[in-house]
Amino acid sequence: MYKSLTNYSDKVDDAFLFILSVIVFFFVAISITIVVFLVKYRAREGRVAKQIEGNNMLEVIWTVIPLILVLVMFYFGWRGWKPMFSKAPKDAMVINTTSRMWNFGFEYENGKRTDTLYIPANKAIKLDLESIDVIHSIYIPAFRLKQDMVPGDNKSVWFIANEPGRHDLFCTEYCGLRHSYMYTAVVVMPEDEFNEWYVDTTKREIQAAPGVHPGLAIMQANACNTCHSLDGSRLVGPSYKGLWGKEEVVVTNGKKRTIVVDEEYIRRSIWEPNADIVDGYNKGLMQSYKDQITAAEMDSIIVFLKGLN
Ligand code: CUA
Repeated sequence: MYKSLTNYSDKVDDAFLFILSVIVFFFVAISITIVVFLVKYRAREGRVAKQIEGNNMLEVIWTVIPLILVLVMFYFGWRGWKPMFSKAPKDAMVINTTSRMWNFGFEYENGKRTDTLYIPANKAIKLDLESIDVIHSIYIPAFRLKQDMVPGDNKSVWFIANEPGRHDLFCTEYCGLRHSYMYTAVVVMPEDEFNEWYVDTTKREIQAAPGVHPGLAIMQANACNTCHSLDGSRLVGPSYKGLWGKEEVVVTNGKKRTIVVDEEYIRRSIWEPNADIVDGYNKGLMQSYKDQITAAEMDSIIVFLKGLN
């Protein structure tokens, strides 16, 4: 019925199947009993209802059986939960996993960064989880992996993926307007293929698809487009359309002022997004991209935004 894709996922499935079996058993048993009793004890001429007051034997049975059942459920649940949160093996590959409104970022030990989680099969992987704004939750259903990412409370999970494949990875904690955009994938590769991908630093820079401006590719890789549109429509943040050279009213330290959108303004808006807030938008929704967007990438973004006019 299920394939075990990680070192512990079959244990999670055991818990699920046990609980499901208990539910199905009692649903069927209770439904049948209801029907039988409806017929057997229906009102009939001359029959008087008998009042029963207390039955110790019955009470012991319906206390002890559920107690045993929930303890077994706990046992199966514990068995599935424990491996993920136990101490990771020393040779585990550590991947820094960051969540923010609204995307995931993965950073490897050699500095490689991606928005999709690439991992080798049959190797212990440790995800160091950090949220830089609000509560998110990382969820890989195929791996039975789920963990809340609470700002200021960094946790780790570890696992071994058993075989190559591609699976959904998404945020499963409602984290604001564009929560549904926190949707990416985990790609499990054979170890040699992964090693080739891993050491290939030429692919370190974001590769633009044919016909896509490199600046736009960088913004897409950082999920800027989930909050800023290209066509002038209002999303969480201002649109890029006609932005360059525009006069904009911004709120700086609580005071309104008018600025002209230039290079300095763009840099500030990406690296210190809460310094100037365009009038009518909310503060605090965007955090700094200082660690995500390099100076060279910034230049490329500026060229792209200039070209939009
Ligand atoms: Cu992040 Cu929902």
